[in-house]
Amino acid sequence: MVGDFKGKVVLVTGGASGIGRAIVERLAARGATLVIADILRKEGEKAAAAAREQGVDARFLPLDVREPDEVRDLVQAIVEAHGQLDCAVNNAGVEHGLQALADVGDEDWDRIQEINLRGVWLCLKHELPQMVRQGRGSIVNLASVAGLVGAPLLGPYAASKHGVVGLTRTAALEYGRMGVRVNAVCPSTIRTEMFQRSLTGRPDLAEKLVRNSPMRRLGEPGEVAEAVIWLCSDAASFVNGHQLAVDGGMTAQ
Ligand SMILES: NC(=O)c1ccc[n+]([C@@H]2O[C@H](COP(=O)([O-])OP(=O)(O)OC[C@H]3O[C@@H](n4cnc5c(N)ncnc54)[C@H](O)[C@@H]3O)[C@@H](O)[C@H]2O)c1
Repeated sequence: MVGDFKGKVVLVTGGASGIGRAIVERLAARGATLVIADILRKEGEKAAAAAREQGVDARFLPLDVREPDEVRDLVQAIVEAHGQLDCAVNNAGVEHGLQALADVGDEDWDRIQEINLRGVWLCLKHELPQMVRQGRGSIVNLASVAGLVGAPLLGPYAASKHGVVGLTRTAALEYGRMGVRVNAVCPSTIRTEMFQRSLTGRPDLAEKLVRNSPMRRLGEPGEVAEAVIWLCSDAASFVNGHQLAVDGGMTAQ
């Protein structure tokens, strides 16, 4: 098991569900002090309670990454409570229905960019200054294979995730000298609530994705969580500005 997170304060946005929830569970097993921030209150409280049962200090704070004041207040509340923010996992994100670019509605476009791209930027905007003050910190942004290669019928999502990769690389160059590392993880299809929603009206989709995957299976949330945790940890102390594909080899094709 990589990494001892005892004494480390870690923020996970979107930690109430899916990949974020798996990250929370696995960080709790490593002794991290956890702050779970999500728009889903009930599920977020549940994730925090489950982490506390694993013996760590964990709490849920409500957050909508679209709201600049909420993001600012979240980071401030963490620093007031714990005095530090060692790692941040900017994981909150949303999907949209399959559509060719010319058919995408303005509202869908704006919603995806607002949550997936602007939301990550807002988090970085408030996490980075705190980590600079500390002289150390590690941030992992959840991008996607759709941030590395084109994704037919997922134009707004692909644009947002390419944006997250661009933010990650730029932040790494700007803040590396100040002791802060910023990396991205790029999963292919992972069996989460987001994936379940994408199956609506497309019963054939799961089988097609499995057939097209080099490992002939989808990924599990825990498999992404392990990559995220490695990048957060001191084991990755010289890894900065990287986009780690967790995709069973999909982008090797
Ligand atoms: N599941 C996949 O196949 C897959 C593949 C590649 C990348 N990703 C990315 O991984 C991340 C996690 O995805 P997941 O599959 O676990 O999805 P999920 O829907 O299971 O979890 C996403 C979490 O983000 C939260 N969230 C959504 N909007 C929010 C907002 N405005 N403010 C705060 N929280 C908000 C949700 O409430 C939820 O708890 C996302 O960024 C997603 O784009 C997922």
